[in-house]
Amino acid sequence: MDKYCAPPYRIKMVEPIKRSTRQEREKYLSDAHNNLFLLPSDAVYIDLLTDSGTGAMSHFQWSAMMQGDEAYAGSRSFYRFEKSVRDICGYAYVIPVHQGRGAEQVLLPVLTKRKGMVFISNMHFDTTRAHVELAGAHAVDCVTGACFHIDEYHPFKGNMDVDRCREHIKKYGASNVAGIIMTVTNNSAGGQPVSMENLRAVRDLAKAHHIPLIIDGARYAENAAFIKQRESAFRHMSIREIAREMFGCADIFLMSAKKDGLVNIGGFIAIRDNEELFRSCQVRTVAYEGFPTYGGLAGRDLEAVAVGLQEGLEPDYLEHRLDQVRYLTEHLRDAGIPVQYPAGGHAVFVDCKRICPHIPYDRFPAQAVCNALYLEAGVRGVEVGSLLIGRDPESGENIESPFEWMRLSLPRRSYTYAHLELVADAVRAVYEKRETLRGLVFEYEPPVLRHFTARLKYE
Ligand code: F0G
Repeated sequence: MDKYCAPPYRIKMVEPIKRSTRQEREKYLSDAHNNLFLLPSDAVYIDLLTDSGTGAMSHFQWSAMMQGDEAYAGSRSFYRFEKSVRDICGYAYVIPVHQGRGAEQVLLPVLTKRKGMVFISNMHFDTTRAHVELAGAHAVDCVTGACFHIDEYHPFKGNMDVDRCREHIKKYGASNVAGIIMTVTNNSAGGQPVSMENLRAVRDLAKAHHIPLIIDGARYAENAAFIKQRESAFRHMSIREIAREMFGCADIFLMSAKKDGLVNIGGFIAIRDNEELFRSCQVRTVAYEGFPTYGGLAGRDLEAVAVGLQEGLEPDYLEHRLDQVRYLTEHLRDAGIPVQYPAGGHAVFVDCKRICPHIPYDRFPAQAVCNALYLEAGVRGVEVGSLLIGRDPESGENIESPFEWMRLSLPRRSYTYAHLELVADAVRAVYEKRETLRGLVFEYEPPVLRHFTARLKYE
């Protein structure tokens, strides 16, 4: 009977959220120029824009924050943070940063020794790609083809296509590959996990060519829980041991702690043993993030990460976490709505190309569905498709994204199954009127990262 795991926590403090009428939402959306990023969050009832920095902290985290040491240098809180990170990955060097992209801006230019080098990844997350390009390098994605068949079960749709990765190393020459980045879980492919077998194969390839292997591990704990569930050789290992094994494959661990670190802000770079690399990163950290024992964070933030990282690996928490995403995925799938299957770790990815075949990619079908869902029930998802991907810098044409996703991300420890049922009902209602949805065009198009601040109008 117990199909979905009940939460291993109870609610001690509540944050009221407001329902609104359709009429009010029509005005809010029109005032926001049909871009959900421009809505004030008070106009949103259930906010599934991102799982990043939006979760609830535990009473252990809140009490640890009271012990924050705000010393500029050598803060006690830094040493607790460092111990917690080392405990998880076993690496020697730890540098705090304000969030994931802080880690990217520090590390990626250090690895890019010359202009024109490449980074190869299962899939670069947007900010990672942006920092690769800002560093003067080129980003190549080699995700497994399995992730494009959304209806077909595959346990590890986040994997790297190792053969393609090998071909790219050959094509560019190993000395021109600045790093191989494994994004775990693979956010842009649908929060899909990477298997240990795949990670080990990539490690062997990287080692053979002396290329540093980086884990972009914002959701590494969710990935480790999937390995335990789906990779039989690891069924009897603890999630913590699996995580250690994952990090055993890599040289560098970049983390946006706003996800599996269960905090609202924070991140870090951890380096296995390369002291020279650590020193170079420290230098850049001072310039861009802050002194290397605080890296843009308050002492209290470091305390919250130290505790949150440990909680993020608890089996009961992870079982419930993955079950919430599975619950919403399965409810939508049962209603015939096309979603990436099986469920990923942090979000449900709805295929809007299939929902709205009458809306061309450059009229942003997923944005049309996201807006309709907001109008239906005050639920905010996010477009991950051709609006986000932008224009080809050379031709100036809109690039057609391989996916037109509406991503519904679940903040950690925040919403109940009843909220998710409401979301599923609202998506179903939008699906029923899919033929009436219309595409959008720009009223104002910003030159970079256009999706955040664009103004849109219906055709
Ligand atoms: N890497 C991955 C895989 C991410 O998903 C993110 C952020 C980052 C790096 C950058 O971290 O936001 O702390 O600077 N993902 C968020 C999302 C924004 O909504 O998926 P950040």
